[in-house]
Amino acid sequence: MEIGHAAVAITRLQDYCPPAYLVDSVALDVDIRDGVTTVTSSLSLRRNPASADATVMTFNGEGLLLRTLALDDVVLDSDRYHYENGLLTVEGLPEACTLTSVVDIEPEKNTALEGLYQSNGMYCTQCEAEGFRHITFFPDRPDVLARFTTTVRADKARYPLLLSNGNPVAWGEEEEGGSGRHWVTWEDPFPKPCYLFALVAGDLACLEDTFMTVSGRKVALRLYAEHRDLDKLDHAMASLKNAMRWDEQVYGREYDLDIYMIVAVSHFNMGAMENKGLNIFNTSCVLAHPSTTTDAGFQRVESVVAHEYFHNWSGNRVTCRDWFQLSLKEGFTVFRDQQFSADMNSAAVQRVENVDFLVNHQFPEDQGPMAHAVRPEEYQKIDNFYTLTIYEKGAEIVRMQYHLLGAENFRKATDHYFEANDGKAVTCDDFVASMEAVSGRDLGQFKRWYSQAGTPVLTVTDEYREGQYHLTFRQHTPATPGQEDKQPLVIPIRLALLDDQGAPCALDANGQGEQVIIVDQAQETVSFAVPEGVTPSLLRGFSAPVVLDYDYTQAQLARLLAYDSDGYCRWNAAQRLYFAALDRLVVEPGEADAEAAALVPVLEQVIARSDEDPAQAALLLTLPSEVALGDRHTPLNPASIHLAHRAMKRALGKALQSHWLSLAENLLATELSMDGRAMGRRQLRNLALDFLAAGEHDEAAGLAVELFELPLCMSEELGALKVLVHHDLPGADQALAQFAERWQDEALVMDQWFAVQATVPGEQTVDRVNGLLEHPAFDWKTPNRVRALVGTFTNGNPSAFHAESGAGYRLFAQALSRLDAINPQVAARLANGAARLPRLEPQRRERLAEVLADVQKNSSGNVAEVLGRILSS
Ligand code: BES
Ligand code: ZN
Repeated sequence: MEIGHAAVAITRLQDYCPPAYLVDSVALDVDIRDGVTTVTSSLSLRRNPASADATVMTFNGEGLLLRTLALDDVVLDSDRYHYENGLLTVEGLPEACTLTSVVDIEPEKNTALEGLYQSNGMYCTQCEAEGFRHITFFPDRPDVLARFTTTVRADKARYPLLLSNGNPVAWGEEEEGGSGRHWVTWEDPFPKPCYLFALVAGDLACLEDTFMTVSGRKVALRLYAEHRDLDKLDHAMASLKNAMRWDEQVYGREYDLDIYMIVAVSHFNMGAMENKGLNIFNTSCVLAHPSTTTDAGFQRVESVVAHEYFHNWSGNRVTCRDWFQLSLKEGFTVFRDQQFSADMNSAAVQRVENVDFLVNHQFPEDQGPMAHAVRPEEYQKIDNFYTLTIYEKGAEIVRMQYHLLGAENFRKATDHYFEANDGKAVTCDDFVASMEAVSGRDLGQFKRWYSQAGTPVLTVTDEYREGQYHLTFRQHTPATPGQEDKQPLVIPIRLALLDDQGAPCALDANGQGEQVIIVDQAQETVSFAVPEGVTPSLLRGFSAPVVLDYDYTQAQLARLLAYDSDGYCRWNAAQRLYFAALDRLVVEPGEADAEAAALVPVLEQVIARSDEDPAQAALLLTLPSEVALGDRHTPLNPASIHLAHRAMKRALGKALQSHWLSLAENLLATELSMDGRAMGRRQLRNLALDFLAAGEHDEAAGLAVELFELPLCMSEELGALKVLVHHDLPGADQALAQFAERWQDEALVMDQWFAVQATVPGEQTVDRVNGLLEHPAFDWKTPNRVRALVGTFTNGNPSAFHAESGAGYRLFAQALSRLDAINPQVAARLANGAARLPRLEPQRRERLAEVLADVQKNSSGNVAEVLGRILSS
């Protein structure tokens, strides 16, 4: 099949074959010089007893200039091998041999940031999923595990630091008289797939610490960043130590090398990467300082540092057989980092944040043109498959197994999994097999969660009959692209029944107030002997990733919001109240004041209790986003969604204005603290300020300016700036100018400056963003900057992106084309911003389809795949 000009190859799970040869060890020599880096690699090959293939072996290699190829030290004539279309084929290999290649690469020209590239003058690598083939020839697949020895050579003055995986074992200066060049050899004792390879050469500052493992081994912890950022590494270090201790205590997993390094780089396609012993991080996920980083930024650093650390076991020691098994390491590791964050912070708040993210981002993915199974059957570009479904839904699937087994058995099962599979490349089936082995449970039907795409809808009805309360559950999973027929899933439903005082009724003879019902049929009914008039509290803790359809009354929702002991159910009740009101306003925008008035009593209760947990109160008081509201209305007209949303916010701003004012004033801190409670108070105050401004209160501008002028930290400064700019208050332009002046040298803060402006609601923002694309600080080659401006515009500003004139779509299409030529992976992620196209009202849909078809014609494989799916749906 041809899409655009690129031939699209499809990789299928059913075609999996073990490799013909194994690589026992690899010696790499990476000789870095200006303009050209020469990579010499010696692979010790051995025929794979598990493979039926003959003596032909293929190696991946992309854009490599092959200088020599030798077999057991004899240079091969060109008729013995063939290098074409990214594959090197060598024939007539003996049982065991050494294949040596010398290739030239050009990291300075690598704007795709895949393989070896430069970032602010330093050299670094990104190899997952298939970047290693841009460095040297290798069987670039995760089931080939080799021992790596790596020598890095470079100019000593400019690149005093030369890093790779494992431990440094030798170093020195190069002879050639005073060349000023030096080298370091690193040895990684653990066999690993090449996607975990890493290398760094640069002049960096280091924050050093140590960690004593549970068995008494001392590990050197080294966090590297540009010299100017040395003061922004403390939080990551503290997070790392917490994560190391936590994994010992909760999973019995100890770190295995003598050194653990993290390097911060400014140019990075993703958030961070778990390379063995040498993590490479986007600066945005490791640097943190109260004056430059928001509270949300601090929490992000904590969780990403933990996530990449946890991969040392769930991903590195036990890795994936093939990329169809990606969720084996990502879903499990996200579950682990979520558990960790819940233990470090408020567990209830963490859970709500994770669920909020899942239902507002993964659910739409699962219901749109990109829907796919957690373990897909096929893919085109693997980089496009690092999706929310693999990550977030994958984590929910692990979470359900955790709850099905219980904490104790789950721990036994993960011990079994790690021990049985250490040093191996395995599958999702192997993970579930460990759960089954330990628990004795048959998880055969449960495994449909991995293979079946789409979000199940769980419809619940109830009736009171013959002195009993009967709950009927029906499950149905809508068809997804390429998967019409769906089977019933195993759905654990944690529930309680609240009486009219909001107290849980006893559900059994032991007086238990909570029970887990496991529904595995299309329809099931359960009965309880409880008094009439109960309110069902369903899916507590969000016990399964399903859409719950139950026809709650307003009074029931008010009761859940006020009394439910489950944080998720309280939040969900608030969401349902907001959505019901907003849905009506989409049809009747004039009724905003009446809708707000009806919500006042319940919201006043939340505000009255806000001191119990300010972060939770902030979550309960946050309206669903415009995007989330739009996802409930087909055909989607983003303009009417915007009007309804704005009317609601304004009406709530007015109806509760005295509360917003006192929250905005009373939560002011005089001293900076970074603990959870202080962060929650800041979050709540920023929210109050936002509502105050939405309600056009006279004091909003003054309070925001005051906060902006004398902030204690970036959360305050940015919160105030957002309120000023998004509500176009007096002083907004001056604040923007002042902010840029103050932070022009802090890239991550300037990203926020771009993002704030890209998310100003309203169609005029299209012009503003077009202007910012020409700003001297805007740079197409820096993914963080592109995401801050173009990504937030497309994903976080529907009223501008979907401007009736089509100007937002043209901006988007031009940006995609421009970026595609520079960085196809980041461009393809950006292209996902058009995934709601099939749901748009006809005029917008046609406009968007038209501009995207043009982009698709000229695009690389990555963008072409994404646009192809969107346009053909
Ligand atoms: N292994 C990934 C990083 C990665 C993904 C590299 C795709 C190359 C292609 C890493 O462990 C990861 O998942 N990072 C996330 C953040 C994490 C906290 C979920 C990321 O980069 O967004
Ligand atoms: Zn990961």
